Amino acid sequence: MNILEIKNLNISYKFCGKKISILKNANLSVKFCDYICIVGKNGAGKSSLIKAILGIIPIDNGKISFINLKRSDVSYVPQFNTGFANMPATVEEAIFTGAVRPGLAKYCRINKISDITTHFLNKLKIPDLYKRKMMDLSGGQIKRVLIARALCSEPKMLILDEPFANLDEETSDILYKMFDRLNAFNKITFVMVLHDTEKAKKVSTSIINVEKGKVCQVINKK
Ligand SMILES: Nc1ncnc2c1ncn2[C@@H]1O[C@H](COP(=O)(O)OP(=O)(O)O)[C@@H](O)[C@H]1O
Ligand SMILES: [Mg+2]
Repeated sequence: MNILEIKNLNISYKFCGKKISILKNANLSVKFCDYICIVGKNGAGKSSLIKAILGIIPIDNGKISFINLKRSDVSYVPQFNTGFANMPATVEEAIFTGAVRPGLAKYCRINKISDITTHFLNKLKIPDLYKRKMMDLSGGQIKRVLIARALCSEPKMLILDEPFANLDEETSDILYKMFDRLNAFNKITFVMVLHDTEKAKKVSTSIINVEKGKVCQVINKK
């Protein structure tokens, strides 16, 4: 069952008054409980594809349809986190903002996060950082916190842009295992940009290759 379908998607940016085409007639589909890896060279358009899916950037034309999935079911971990990196908020406060849902009160403070989320926060050693300020963390620590924040809303789909960038090998291994578990047992659908193509072949149900404006989806066996 498809939960996301993209048909004939075109994306471009305006730069110095000129239109630069990034993706042309892109098609792809994501099934429930898929583990999709998006690969491609620097500047190929991977982040732009994700931002278009999330509605962060406008599209020229084409159709992006979520099926039986609300926007609030989708969590996102961006590639760069300059906003949070400059914030005087504590790690704990930043994580709790992940539970704020659109349409709810302007600010919704939760006192308790679910046991599943707590389990993963512990795995990522986040409680050790709770009282620290976001602006004092290293790049890898910020990345871990933002992944924890994304999990806090208990999403049905997790979209991650290079989640392993800045992470050491040990943390990456823990994270790969966590993602596997969240996919297999918690039935979270993954869409993530990865640089490691070999790893992508191993873990994914489907690989999306972005190259020279073209998007090519290859179904992979898990
Ligand atoms: N807001 C923007 N305005 C103009 N060009 C942009 C903008 N965002 C990205 N680009 C350009 O679009 C291309 C694709 O960027 P991006 O999607 O970030 O690539 P990737 O994630 O594959 O490295 C790059 O050449 C980048 O410089
Ligand atoms: Mg990118």
